Amino acid sequence: MKYAKITGTGSYLPKQVFTNADWEKRVNTSDAWIVERTGIKSRHIASENETATMMGANAALNALNMANVNAKDIQLVIVATGTPDKIFPATACLIQKQLQIPTCIAFDIQAACSGFVYALSIADQYIKSGVIKRALIIGTEVMSRLIDWQDRNTCVLFGDGAGACVLEASDSPGILSTHLYADGNYNDILYVDMPSGKEPCYIHMQGQKVFKLAVAKLGELVKDTLQFHNIKSEDIDWLVPHQANIRIIKATADKLKLPMEKVICTVEAHSNTSSASIPLALDIGIRDGRIKKGQTLLLEAIGGGMTWGSALVKY
Ligand code: UT7
Repeated sequence: MKYAKITGTGSYLPKQVFTNADWEKRVNTSDAWIVERTGIKSRHIASENETATMMGANAALNALNMANVNAKDIQLVIVATGTPDKIFPATACLIQKQLQIPTCIAFDIQAACSGFVYALSIADQYIKSGVIKRALIIGTEVMSRLIDWQDRNTCVLFGDGAGACVLEASDSPGILSTHLYADGNYNDILYVDMPSGKEPCYIHMQGQKVFKLAVAKLGELVKDTLQFHNIKSEDIDWLVPHQANIRIIKATADKLKLPMEKVICTVEAHSNTSSASIPLALDIGIRDGRIKKGQTLLLEAIGGGMTWGSALVKY
């Protein structure tokens, strides 16, 4: 049986760091409130030239280098983003051009904060079925261009960045399973309207509703994922969650009875980077040596749609 295996990861964070103290100067908020309610202390904010394409391409280059894969051998590029540089062409095509990847399959997907898990799942199907051998999966977001800089309910929560993975066909286990869900009945608790040219478009969120749904759905999701494989929490080496709020992350870890020492957390320094948050956390955990070859990782995310999903991965 063929598996899709993660053979390289990479990330890119904008140069500018924006702390809670910087937000205190702009809106009626406090470092104490942000840290207590979210666990966030700072976030990276993109400059004008740090676009979804630029950040995604840089993250992808780092992933290709780690995998020791030449860009010309990539057969599929999937970019998960809610903040593309253009409505079309897809950011995937712009990154393909930048990295000089020859003619291949390239497209963007939109599943908000669950985008990376969705992209991973799609690429997994392409590789497992033998259609392709090598894929590049990228989550890249310029959330700072979607926030209302006057709205303290949302502006302090989001940041910019990109993460990427190279996936290659392998005979040894890689992605063990992915589990994707969506329920459009919740479309109005977290959304951004289509630009009409008349009014600016911002993130709208009913924070408490999203919070409660996230805790409930992610709790079910991680338990179901373990049950699907008939494995226990002890079999998980690392939980690599979407980084929206430390309280949601802790609630999911609690559900699994997993100590926080086994959770890769970047929310404090990155805040919520939507579809970039999981590949960013994965890359950091791998590069600092915590995540080792052969370990079992549980990835999970929830976001606008509402969409949610998990992946069980042998690294
Ligand atoms: O990526 C997936 C999508 N996003 C999420 O998963 C986020 C889910 N939601 C959350 O993380 C939390 O609901 C928030 C962090 C957004 C809010 O935390 P909360 O504990 O649910 O607070 P709240 O919305 O109930 O607001 C409590 C109070 C309100 O004041 P009053 O009405 O009690 O006087 C807010 O106006 O906190 C106020 N508040 C703030 N105060 C200082 C809201 N934002 C701020 C702020 N600074 N930035």
